[in-house]
Amino acid sequence: MSSATPAAAPDVSNPDVVLVVDFGAQYAQLIARRVREARVYSEIVPSTMPVAEMLAKNPKAIILSGGPSSVYAEGAPRLDRAIFEAGVPVFGMCYGFQLMATTLGGTVDNTGAREYGRTGLHVSKAGSTLFEGTPVEQSVWMSHGDACSAAPEGFSVTASTDVVPVAAFENDEKKLYGVQYHPEVLHSTHGQQILEHFLYRGAGIEPSWTTGNVIEEQVAAIRAQVGDKRAICGLSGGVDSAVAAALVQKAIGSQLTCVYVDHGLMRKGETEQVEKDFVAATGANLKVVDAQERFLDALAGVSDPETKRKIIGREFIRVFEQAQLEILQEEGPEVAFLVQGTLYPDIVESGGGTGTANIKSHHNVGGLPDDIEFQLVEPLRQLFKDEVRMVGQELGLPDEIVQRQPFPGPGLGIRIVGEVTKDRLDLLREADAIAREELTAAGLDREIWQCPVVLLADVRSVGVQGDGRTYGHPIVLRPVSSEDAMTADWSRLPYEVLAKISTRITNEVADVNRVVLDVTSKPPGTIEWE
Ligand code: XMP
Repeated sequence: MSSATPAAAPDVSNPDVVLVVDFGAQYAQLIARRVREARVYSEIVPSTMPVAEMLAKNPKAIILSGGPSSVYAEGAPRLDRAIFEAGVPVFGMCYGFQLMATTLGGTVDNTGAREYGRTGLHVSKAGSTLFEGTPVEQSVWMSHGDACSAAPEGFSVTASTDVVPVAAFENDEKKLYGVQYHPEVLHSTHGQQILEHFLYRGAGIEPSWTTGNVIEEQVAAIRAQVGDKRAICGLSGGVDSAVAAALVQKAIGSQLTCVYVDHGLMRKGETEQVEKDFVAATGANLKVVDAQERFLDALAGVSDPETKRKIIGREFIRVFEQAQLEILQEEGPEVAFLVQGTLYPDIVESGGGTGTANIKSHHNVGGLPDDIEFQLVEPLRQLFKDEVRMVGQELGLPDEIVQRQPFPGPGLGIRIVGEVTKDRLDLLREADAIAREELTAAGLDREIWQCPVVLLADVRSVGVQGDGRTYGHPIVLRPVSSEDAMTADWSRLPYEVLAKISTRITNEVADVNRVVLDVTSKPPGTIEWE
């Protein structure tokens, strides 16, 4: 599959958009999320976008993010002064604050006085637009080398730190605001309140954006895009594809067919969740392809993790395409659309853009044309993960689907170290189900990011059970905490919970005589074992 060409985006108008101008590093996404938590719609734009183009989006306010540069560094990103003169309220944070200061005639010095991490902020104008109702001494998160020593003309200084004389300023008349720190991070104790003050008081925006609006807007946009044609959506068992499918189902009903490839590598109960619970909640047409044997046959005798991944990927595409062809051959309107659960972070990370794409499917299976072109429907492309969960909840999907923790596409196939066989999969499913049940019972689901349960199929060790000696396999528990799976730490689970999981697995799962805990962070260890 693949080969994408741009096409027109569905026109979803967001009258109250706040633009977050991205000056690099990781801050812009977090700011955009915080704005949405304040129930105001936000979008990220790159700092290289011409100001005229930003203003053409008719933003209700603009936020300038932090970034890794010094405003004096050669090649540091700049902004056309026009952004401050258009009458649109602007809030600069960290680098954005310094840029606002220097562009408008204030002074930023490279003082050598660096401030990183948690810092005390002294608010000097307690009743100011941003700081009203917050304590005069508060803790904020700093990350800068340069410091503002004089605010531009017409601005009043509203806060300082021990090192920085101008740590925040405001110009109410021009609706320009800035803080030297990062209000978007949780370490800035009143950060969200200050952001909301900017949005509601400074920019006069009403907090009205909700996931309910998203559903209404998307349903209308999907109907307009798909018309009376048909669409296909692959369900993986994961949150994104389920919510995307539910949204499209709400919009076009029986014009949508969902496809679920049962590769036999899912955890206990997960296939039933798709086959029964998803269908019950949405009324979707679901085509289930039972391909368990095909996957097992293809994986027979293979232990190398990369080879396993390749085989699973290859078989998956073949089975999915075969299902697509069968749907194409059914009587009915043309099948022209493929639904995908692409999220906003995927869009931002691949360079932004507002267009949707076409996708060309090159078929390996015989019977129909070699190339079929689908247009993509991506109803979640404006949303962050937590918003996708809220939309799913609002659409009535069960918690087991909406709150599901990350699970790899190749499933349990990469959680068996060694060859994948039916017996081993069944054994691992039992052990995994016990671990999940106990973690849920202990109320730990939200605390841990995910907990792979791994079968070391190539390892055996001696044990004793009942009256006899055993020679069984170890099961590894890999509970981790993480923000984004790029880095992770092992979760410090309560001993009683670990003890209960261990006792139950060794008692209830035949052929397992040890349970071990992985206490490695990432890096150096990955989350999955493979
Ligand atoms: P690692 O093991 O690289 O995993 O630390 C990072 C995150 O990615 C998940 N993962 C996958 N997800 N397809 C997926 O959809 C995959 O092939 C895959 N491999 C790893 C893993 O569960 C963790 O959340």
